[in-house]
Amino acid sequence: MSRNRLNDLDSKTYMKFLKSWFPFETGAEASFISFFTKTLDETNHPTRIGYYPDSPVLKRAIETTGRQPVSLPDQSDEQLHYALIDLRGKEPSFFGEGDLDAIFHNLFSRLKHRAYVTLWMNCGTDMAAHRCAWDVARQTTRWFEMKDEKIGCAGMTDNDQPYLGAQGGQLVYAFNFRHTLSAPKAPASLTPPPHYPEHQWDTRLRMPLWFVLKPPPRKEKVKLHPAKYPEVLVERFIKNFSRPDDVVFDPMSGTGSTQIAAVGCHRRGYGLELNETFADIARLRLEQHNVQHVAAAVYTADAGHLEQVKGLPLRFDYVITSPPYWDMLNMKGAETQKSRKEKGLPVNYSDSETDLGNCPDYATFLQRLLRIYHKVIQRLRPGGYMTVIVKNIKKKGVIYPFAWDIVDGLSDVLEPVGINFWLQDDIRLAPYGYGNAWVSNTFHQYILTFHKPGKREV
Ligand SMILES: C[S@@+](CC[C@H](N)C(=O)[O-])C[C@H]1O[C@@H](n2cnc3c(N)ncnc32)[C@H](O)[C@@H]1O
Repeated sequence: MSRNRLNDLDSKTYMKFLKSWFPFETGAEASFISFFTKTLDETNHPTRIGYYPDSPVLKRAIETTGRQPVSLPDQSDEQLHYALIDLRGKEPSFFGEGDLDAIFHNLFSRLKHRAYVTLWMNCGTDMAAHRCAWDVARQTTRWFEMKDEKIGCAGMTDNDQPYLGAQGGQLVYAFNFRHTLSAPKAPASLTPPPHYPEHQWDTRLRMPLWFVLKPPPRKEKVKLHPAKYPEVLVERFIKNFSRPDDVVFDPMSGTGSTQIAAVGCHRRGYGLELNETFADIARLRLEQHNVQHVAAAVYTADAGHLEQVKGLPLRFDYVITSPPYWDMLNMKGAETQKSRKEKGLPVNYSDSETDLGNCPDYATFLQRLLRIYHKVIQRLRPGGYMTVIVKNIKKKGVIYPFAWDIVDGLSDVLEPVGINFWLQDDIRLAPYGYGNAWVSNTFHQYILTFHKPGKREV
């Protein structure tokens, strides 16, 4: 491993921090300080850490790491090496009042170039609070460049169900930014986040806010697909949001996990998949699993033209799906590409232009995906639910908040009624950016559930 210019940590502690989720405990801030700074600066003095608000807890966390705490705003002109901005417990109205603007302006001139800022916000099962946190993170990019998020999983309890490990009902966002802009992007002031409707957390969502999943190992055939989700997870959602005999649909079925899970729960499972090889595997698996001969099918088709697919039911009762991770599978040198190539497995979904995984830019990709989702939603029955399993995208050091954009992009027709975090704990950590920059391993997925207004006819 290369020399560590970022901090004073040994490689084991460094690597542990790269995981994008962590069990949140009091004092967790100290591990951020130790990761994002060295103990001493170039002149052998303790590095200086800005903090806001002036809380004894933050001050103590900085002091325990041997660094020097600097309460913000501060009028001295000494440079800062890192800053902690703790916005836990702030009401949405706070963000329009100007306090934070003053802090950011101050911090912008004081923070060393390429130093980091961590913004803390907490959320539970209130969708509006999550959206407010995302909004503040987006707005902070007027001063600093968003590098990544880590989530702190609080309120941990053990679960005795076979595939669910630890779980909990509170979450702390730690959004990490870097000071790389030469001037704030105008207008450099926060506007209060929009008043997001407070949708009731849906009582059907009998899943904890966050959970660690330990699925059984994948079988050889389905390893052909680079991004499959586990049936045990889909089954839980299918059981929560549909009834026996309902039609469950997935517009981008991959190797057919949705349909396998659906027929296993005595639901009719339908889907589309653009890639012939994956669709063939899905059909083969379905043949083997559908022992009760429930009505089910995966068609090879472009979801953008679902109205042309013959045999597809006109009404869907529940939709569960996971989109391509933009063109990330096509990225040369992407970690999955390297290891998959070595094993002789396909490295992307297809070369087709209609494959969303081949869209050249993020805006077009998002727009095309949302257009497909809107078509699907037209067929979702009133009162029905849709679940999207998705990660925010990180590409060449830039964050594209894909999960958040999907919530915004569907809110004109659906009510966001649930959010869960699926945490992965069974993948080996990769030393991205080791010793130079913060690049996390994203091991958490957003599970977003929406409700179509209206009541289900009995
Ligand atoms: C994340 S994967 C889905 C994996 C699936 N949930 C599973 O567990 O196997 C996304 C899938 O979308 C497919 N896809 C991309 N563009 C498509 C389109 N326009 N229509 C239908 N499928 C498409 C890709 O081939 C890929 O298999």
